[in-house]
Amino acid sequence: MYEGLKIGVLASGRGSNFQAIIDAVNAGKINAEIAVCISDNEDAYALERARKNLINAEFIDPKAFQKREDYDVKIVETLKKYGVGLVLLAGYMKLVTPVIVDEFHNKIINIHPALLPSFPGLHVQRKAIEHGVRFSGCTVHFVDGGMDTGPIIIQAVVPILQDDTEDSLATRILAQEHRIYPEAVRLFAEGRFSVQGRRVIIKDAPENPAEFLVNPPVRE
Ligand code: GRF
Repeated sequence: MYEGLKIGVLASGRGSNFQAIIDAVNAGKINAEIAVCISDNEDAYALERARKNLINAEFIDPKAFQKREDYDVKIVETLKKYGVGLVLLAGYMKLVTPVIVDEFHNKIINIHPALLPSFPGLHVQRKAIEHGVRFSGCTVHFVDGGMDTGPIIIQAVVPILQDDTEDSLATRILAQEHRIYPEAVRLFAEGRFSVQGRRVIIKDAPENPAEFLVNPPVRE
């Protein structure tokens, strides 16, 4: 258990995953405080969600920095100012450099709308449909230096339907994201993870964690 864990959220857009985590904290499901939301986008609705919930909201303008590393030095400074012990990427559109990754080793978590290691990167719902895979889903994972490459924490499977569009699939995947991201944060806050190579071992997980963690798909 991390007593007094403070969370810092990096978000660039609408922040619906951020909201799911706010709700879980407010409901007492996650034993932590969200100390700050930082965005590279002044108009990110995520910042508005932070303000509405009396969470510190900081816009840091990338244009004010020449190099990506300089920007990340400022991000690290800000996270430290708020005493952050866990960094959550929630629709954060910038690749984090080693400046952040080295400072918060195995303390940065991301959510990705595909079953990694398939379909890293962007527009992955469309890519999954176009590739013809029968199942996609979402992945919560630790962040290392690569793009969507770090150790996998939780995944949820979502079938791809014959008439799915990028939007319809994204909507069903998002419903699962909102379920598994707060769950992963809860487990982190309870100190339940250890990382062994690429594997994340969950302490006191049920005998078959896959069955426990992968729910049937949510359908409209
Ligand atoms: C989500 O699909 C997430 O998986 C991806 O970016 C999107 C962010 O959505 N990393 P939101 O801002 O949390 O609503």
